[in-house]
Amino acid sequence: MRLEQLHIENLRNIATLDVALAPGINVFVGPNGAGKSSILEAAYLLSHAQSFRLGTTHDLIRRGEKRLAVAATARCGERARRIALIRDDSSWHGRIDQTVTTNLGAVLGETAVVCFEPGSHELIAGSGRERRRFLDWGVFHVEHAYLATAARYRRSLRQRNMALKNGAADGELDAWDVELASAAAPMDLHRQQYFSRFRDRLAELAGQFLPELGEVNLAWDRGWPSDASLLDLLAQRRSLDRIRGHTSRGPHRADWLLRFEQAPQRGQLSRGQEKLCALACVLAQARVHADASGGWPVIALDDLGSELDLEHQARVLDWLRRDADQVLISGVDIPEPLRAEPDAITLFHVEHGSLRGLL
Ligand SMILES: Nc1ncnc2c1ncn2[C@@H]1O[C@H](COP(=O)(O)OP(=O)(O)OP(=O)(O)O)[C@@H](O)[C@H]1O
Ligand SMILES: [Mg+2]
Repeated sequence: MRLEQLHIENLRNIATLDVALAPGINVFVGPNGAGKSSILEAAYLLSHAQSFRLGTTHDLIRRGEKRLAVAATARCGERARRIALIRDDSSWHGRIDQTVTTNLGAVLGETAVVCFEPGSHELIAGSGRERRRFLDWGVFHVEHAYLATAARYRRSLRQRNMALKNGAADGELDAWDVELASAAAPMDLHRQQYFSRFRDRLAELAGQFLPELGEVNLAWDRGWPSDASLLDLLAQRRSLDRIRGHTSRGPHRADWLLRFEQAPQRGQLSRGQEKLCALACVLAQARVHADASGGWPVIALDDLGSELDLEHQARVLDWLRRDADQVLISGVDIPEPLRAEPDAITLFHVEHGSLRGLL
């Protein structure tokens, strides 16, 4: 899929901006603080309803304003839909063509944007939360029903945790254990199916971007031991959970671990290797999406030129030119490997939250 006619209102330093995104590689250049990452962020918001950067949603809204809006035409072959996402007061709502909806899942499911950015190494070095979020986005975009599955699990987890905190009787907790375990099963199944596809694609990409680290091994941890029944485990751990006031095992504790032959511990990767690893994950996710849905997600690379060395920039750009439908790149300058072929890119110059026009 690709995005056309991206429209932004009140996002960071951007008051109003319209950009006619092209198929292939779009490059946004300009000085620091111009608004380049914010343009990529706008595209990303359409498929996540949250930024790839740290901070609150409030930080996204242009200072002094109350409402943020992002819209674009999402095109998959002949099918084109106008998608909008609006943040008013404290909630999001969306629009698909002319229909206003508070069903955010329906809006987010219309577009797919993945992003590699300066904080992406957190996917490797950070907590399991980052990796779960990453995985869940991928699962949702190949299996839209997953949203309801995950929501049911979150609801029952909240209820069980509340019952634990309130010192509920065993009878009540028995009921929550049953509900939690039965909500966990389909969630785990979806995740495992996705993970096995992701693992194969990641192994290929890690081999291309980090061949020096040898074979990659990806292990899935579903959040409780693979040979145990979650229902039995919840009963066994109930007294412990009562003391802690929360549920200690279940899909909310799932994680996945990457190990390389030449770097068996996570701490043995350099920062640059963590970034390359995260990039391989993002591209593997894009590929799984393409395999499953027939269309590539939009691939955003924020500050590519300052994140990777020249050789790796060239490698990733080759890969993208071969496979991806649409790429959005930001940087203070055009990435070196693209400079020799100005006709192969669409270039935008960003200044003070506006476009200076096509160069
Ligand atoms: N809520 C906000 N309201 C107004 N301006 C904001 C808000 N949040 C951030 N900004 C400003 O928006 C501008 C655009 O930031 P952005 O990160 O998009 O810049 P950039 O072009 O990617 O810069 P860099 O080259 O440093 O990465 C910055 O000047 C920033 O200070
Ligand atoms: Mg930036």
